[in-house]
Amino acid sequence: MERLDKFLCDSGAGTRSQVKLIIKSGAVTVDGAVERDSSRKIDPQTQEVCLRGERLGGMRRMVIMLNKPEGYVTATEDKQDKTVMELLPQHLLTMDLKPVGRLDKATEGLLLFTNDGALLHRLISPKKEVPKVYYARHEGKATGEDVDAFREGLTLRDGTVCLPATLEPLGAGESLITVCEGKYHQVRRMMASRGMTVTYLERRQEGSLELGDLPRGQIRELTEEEIILLEKTSK
Ligand code: URA
Repeated sequence: MERLDKFLCDSGAGTRSQVKLIIKSGAVTVDGAVERDSSRKIDPQTQEVCLRGERLGGMRRMVIMLNKPEGYVTATEDKQDKTVMELLPQHLLTMDLKPVGRLDKATEGLLLFTNDGALLHRLISPKKEVPKVYYARHEGKATGEDVDAFREGLTLRDGTVCLPATLEPLGAGESLITVCEGKYHQVRRMMASRGMTVTYLERRQEGSLELGDLPRGQIRELTEEEIILLEKTSK
């Protein structure tokens, strides 16, 4: 059994205070009867809760894409810095969303959040080899030898061995890098191991998902079709 207002929050109907008002307004029914008491205990397994006539199913699976701006750390809490959670709108804060992997404070671009633990683990597991594509501006010019070294699997300056990756030079000081794992500062360290300092980094793609024209600092919810495709690329 759980409180009606908590059940509505978990279903994405709004924040706790918004949900209380919604319930008070008479928009919620339990087994067909209007219920205005937020503290009413319900059993989501056996009782039917509707909001404006539409059945709610408890906490639904959600995947959110954020175009992360620089200056935010990928963490749920931080004493010093702004966190990516601060970029989520209020009504999503009750949905138990967690960032999928991490982007550095200075890195921009595609960052996913989900409340589906199994999907989260698949997406960050190097074993599943979900490709992530980064656009980098860097000092120096990537050569054919750098491309080969990435393809063979780089050894970083501290001895860490990386999985084979792709380096695609776009011109002087610009490259696309595709990696299937997410080690700490991975792309910056891979480039540094070849003598190129990264000055700007943006993640543009993760598995089947592209950042597209989502404006910086904005979010969008993935459709069920996009989630299913994402699951396929991580199997
Ligand atoms: N690699 C990095 O170096 N930084 C990121 O934020 C992501 C990948």
